[in-house]
Amino acid sequence: MYHDFKYETALASSLRAQWQLDDVLRADQSLDFSRNFMPESLARTAAVTSLNPFEQRILNQISAHQYLSIFGIVEEFILPFLFDHARPFLLGDDWRVRALLNFASEEAKHIHLFKRFHNAFVRGFPVECQVIGPSEAIGAEVLKHDPLAVGLVILMIEWMTQQHYLGSIRDDGDIDPLFKSLMKHHWMEEAQHAKLDTLIVDALAKGRTEEQIDKVIDEFFEIGGFLDEGLKAQAGFNLDALEKVIGRTLSDRDEIIAQQHQAARWTYVGSGMVHERFKATLETLSPRAVERVAEAAPLFA
Ligand SMILES: [Fe+2]
Ligand SMILES: [Fe+2]
Repeated sequence: MYHDFKYETALASSLRAQWQLDDVLRADQSLDFSRNFMPESLARTAAVTSLNPFEQRILNQISAHQYLSIFGIVEEFILPFLFDHARPFLLGDDWRVRALLNFASEEAKHIHLFKRFHNAFVRGFPVECQVIGPSEAIGAEVLKHDPLAVGLVILMIEWMTQQHYLGSIRDDGDIDPLFKSLMKHHWMEEAQHAKLDTLIVDALAKGRTEEQIDKVIDEFFEIGGFLDEGLKAQAGFNLDALEKVIGRTLSDRDEIIAQQHQAARWTYVGSGMVHERFKATLETLSPRAVERVAEAAPLFA
């Protein structure tokens, strides 16, 4: 076996690591808008040299608004996926049932936490930032694919939050401690989710032929392409918000959109695609799956 993950031990670790919303952000707490919110390794806003430092910080904060919104969207389709997977075996392995329901409950808490951060953001930010959606439509589009393809996308998302956490502690100490805490607490629970997702993917992949796996990887890329279209549209919305705040039209708007779209590709796809644990799961599916994902990875770097 390429891992030693078990429902029982993942549940035990989850229960030990659990936190409450107020441990991360109280409902009345304010964000510090004099600081960056996102690690530079993800937002890449300091790299936009045509903006002055104030404008770079505003774009960084808009990128954090995107983070809260995108995670809200993806966690909303993780929930029904988990229920669908748990439902047929509710009377089976007790550890499995409890681990999956606890996983779902934590994901519902994360949605709640991202909304709480979003509210704090809206209270302190001068303009409204538009977001792609509605999330129900995005979720429905993703969930119409083969559950194994959806499971792989979710597995990739869970592992990528580790990169996000590492980025937030490695980067300059300048980012708002509340956002650092968000990344840390999210990863604390995602670390167990990623193990459970691995078990889910193992189960869904059982008995599939090489040909069927190839079709699943096609669907994995279809979902990736669909989400990537969303990220591109979101980069445009982000620039609209930036221009509104700074009160001028940017002459290099298209270049900044392309650069920020690339940053989002790394944040929401690439950083999970290259995760060793994700690759290890792909290896158990087929050598061809590993190859195909490795070929696509540079696009999302
Ligand atoms: Fe989560
Ligand atoms: Fe999760």
